Amino acid sequence: MKLVRTIDELTHIVKAWRSEGKIIGLVPTMGWFHQGHLSLMEMARGRADKVVVSLFINPIQFGLGEDLSTYPYDLDRDMQLAEKAGVDLLFAPAAEDIYPVGFQTAVSVKNLTQGLCGASRPDHFGGVATVVAKLFNMVQPHLAIFGEKDYQQLAVIRQMVRDLNFNLEIFGHPIVRESDGLAMSSRNSYLNKEERRHALCLHRSIQYAKEMVEKAGPKLPVVKLTDEVKRIINTTPGCAVDYVEVVDKDTLLPSEYVEKNSMMALAVKINDRVRLIDNTRLDLKESVVPDNK
Ligand code: PAF
Repeated sequence: MKLVRTIDELTHIVKAWRSEGKIIGLVPTMGWFHQGHLSLMEMARGRADKVVVSLFINPIQFGLGEDLSTYPYDLDRDMQLAEKAGVDLLFAPAAEDIYPVGFQTAVSVKNLTQGLCGASRPDHFGGVATVVAKLFNMVQPHLAIFGEKDYQQLAVIRQMVRDLNFNLEIFGHPIVRESDGLAMSSRNSYLNKEERRHALCLHRSIQYAKEMVEKAGPKLPVVKLTDEVKRIINTTPGCAVDYVEVVDKDTLLPSEYVEKNSMMALAVKINDRVRLIDNTRLDLKESVVPDNK
């Protein structure tokens, strides 16, 4: 596996691969790899001849007071894991190369970014869309893979790809969970033992919601469901709801009743320090992402 630190070197290598007719798959990440990331890399391995993983803690997607300065980072550790996962190129650029002095352009996806995480993180998805657009232009991949835990992010990227005519295919990978159900996330590393135990309220909420939908059948009022889920979370020590919403899986607009296309998305703050997200389809299917187009 090759570690590449500059855009020039990256461009040189991917251009050569393209001219040899190789299919290039990209997995964008911010590092501190866990099994969730490794599954995305494995999926890319199965669909592409060359796998590029980007590792860049993107400063413009963090808001004031968020965890940019403490986000976990260990390049040697991640290099070893990526190499084992069969990655061909790990692209780990410096922030000054991605955002040189004078940088002033932003990509904005309007409607999909208003609710859910966008409500409490107003600049987040603009930062994500901007860096992902830059990565697509730099790597020129034929396909890119994102995790479904960040469901809204995936929806925003799909929309951006359609709207800006990026010529690549986007794939979602189902949420990868720990054996007790906690969705894998680099931010789980912030949790102490007790918080880790309490963080299971996210998965408990999801299971509860699925059972409630199964029992209630169609036309369950969303408030009935979300009130119960909020109660589960807010009565767990140290845990507070940021949001619990049932939305249409394509438009991300809130639903009044649980419907065929409904999904539940939630964000929980633990000890006002760690913010975790999770989601589920409510029709009891595993995957929450529409078929790849
Ligand atoms: O999901 C992430 O790790 C990041 O938001 C991404 C897509 C790599 C953009 O910085």
